Amino acid sequence: MKKVKKAVFPVAGLGTRFLPATKASPKEMMPVVDKPLIQYAVEEAVEAGISDMIFVTGRTKRSIEDHFDKAYELESELALKNKTEMLEFVRNMLPRNINCIYIRQTEALGLGHAVLCAKPVVGDEPFAVLLADDLLVGQPPVMKQMTDTYDYYRCSVVGVLDVPRAETASYGMVRSASVAERVERIEGIVEKPKPEDSPSTLGVVGRYILTPRIFHHLEKVKPGSGGEIQLTDAMASLILEEQVLAYRYVGTRFDCGSKLGYLQATVEFGRRHPEVGAAFSNYLANLE
Ligand code: UTP
Repeated sequence: MKKVKKAVFPVAGLGTRFLPATKASPKEMMPVVDKPLIQYAVEEAVEAGISDMIFVTGRTKRSIEDHFDKAYELESELALKNKTEMLEFVRNMLPRNINCIYIRQTEALGLGHAVLCAKPVVGDEPFAVLLADDLLVGQPPVMKQMTDTYDYYRCSVVGVLDVPRAETASYGMVRSASVAERVERIEGIVEKPKPEDSPSTLGVVGRYILTPRIFHHLEKVKPGSGGEIQLTDAMASLILEEQVLAYRYVGTRFDCGSKLGYLQATVEFGRRHPEVGAAFSNYLANLE
């Protein structure tokens, strides 16, 4: 049976909530302390045993390709200055067996459309989708928890968490029935419902494992919420023919697509950082 070996990173969104920072550079390259969001997501995929990283990019996203590429000038400068440790660090950012593949989404027609753009590379295999602006910290990493769940149930798995009812309009929300501890079978899914219309308080976060059958549904869905091709709408038709599970991951989520979540992540990662953590915690403790 096929293992999940491919991950899709949709990084072609406009990132309007972070303008003007995202006018000429991608949201996913924003750093939390010293590492861009996209690198946290790729490392999470690597730790789940995934080897093919498929980035669905758009205009102004070239720095993502450069980030995972060899940096000749930087490397020779570091070598000249005998900064060996930093040189090794830059050279070994990703394990050697990892392939990075880039696809362009020429228009930001929605997350579902971005995932569909990856179809020619994904082919007939189960695959992961990671939204890098959801920064998840878990032990084991959340994608690893999800590939383990996939290996057991052999069907699509979606990461979920309990959200305050007042915030349902920011998430895909699911109606579900319990299967096991942390695992629910999805019976209905709706994109960004008003609190009074939401079927539950279980919201989808940016981690998915999908069977290739999702492409069939993505090809059929019409533009939905916000005029975009929604992954949620394709999943709503997928559940009519296949089991799709919701998985309550173990871990902490920072919504780095919002300013508040991004600031919270910066504080938490800053406090734990091996180099500046102690001094930063001290600074925070002495704030009025
Ligand atoms: P968001 O809904 O967060 O949109 O997209 P956004 O454009 O990134 O940010 P805001 O809301 O305008 O501030 C969810 C994910 O889907 C990707 C985004 O890059 C993000 O990872 N996406 C969205 C695409 O790749 N293409 C699209 O057409 C839309």
